[in-house]
Amino acid sequence: MDPSQTDTLRPDLPPNWLDQVTIRQLGKADLRALEWEGEFIHFRRLYASAYERARMGLALLWGAFLPGDRLIGQLFIQLLSDRLELADGSRRAYLYSFRIRPAYRGNGLGTRMLEVIEQDLIARGYEILTLNVAKDNTRAQALYRRLGFRITAHEPGIWSYPDHEGVWRRVVEPAWRMEKRLKQPHQ
Ligand SMILES: CC(C)(COP(=O)(O)OP(=O)(O)OC[C@H]1O[C@@H](n2cnc3c(N)ncnc32)[C@H](O)[C@@H]1OP(=O)(O)O)[C@@H](O)C(=O)NCCC(=O)NCCS
Repeated sequence: MDPSQTDTLRPDLPPNWLDQVTIRQLGKADLRALEWEGEFIHFRRLYASAYERARMGLALLWGAFLPGDRLIGQLFIQLLSDRLELADGSRRAYLYSFRIRPAYRGNGLGTRMLEVIEQDLIARGYEILTLNVAKDNTRAQALYRRLGFRITAHEPGIWSYPDHEGVWRRVVEPAWRMEKRLKQPHQ
């Protein structure tokens, strides 16, 4: 069975689970949970290098946790990228790897995570949040539009990464780049 299905089938979500969620930055001990019992094991090296970038102050890795440190959502921020139009280390930050476990989607957690992360970026002096969203992911696009993002460019979405066995995998996922101007506290 697809491991993510175990969540979808869980019959025992308490009605107030959203109130029990803690949103915090990930530590090294959280990295394995990002693999979702194997479904995302192919991203192991990507997650490890994202964590190293976070340790160097170049990225932020956020998670949403239920009591017992159960990871049910994640959102990564690049503060500095070699593509300065996405993240330039001072004004622009880039959001990626945004994912909520299926059983918990559509209940406002993604919106809440974005609010927390935006406030954190504003406090760090960032003004613009950028992201790439697959052209066929119309549901996520609707969420981003609702939260104030606008399409600014086409992205070919061609990239490669080494999986957990060191085999290079190529991704082709045409995307829209979307951007949002973050409010400054004094505005
Ligand atoms: C996109 C996502 C992170 C949003 O988190 P969430 O907790 O579901 O979001 P909220 O409950 O705050 O907002 C709900 C909105 O999210 C979007 N959404 C809901 N389920 C979704 C899904 N399976 N895939 C993509 N977007 C979804 C819809 O716009 C939805 O609004 P609607 O209920 O009016 O259709 C989450 O749905 C998810 O993990 N989706 C799959 C992975 C993905 O598409 N990530 C974004 C990559 S750019």
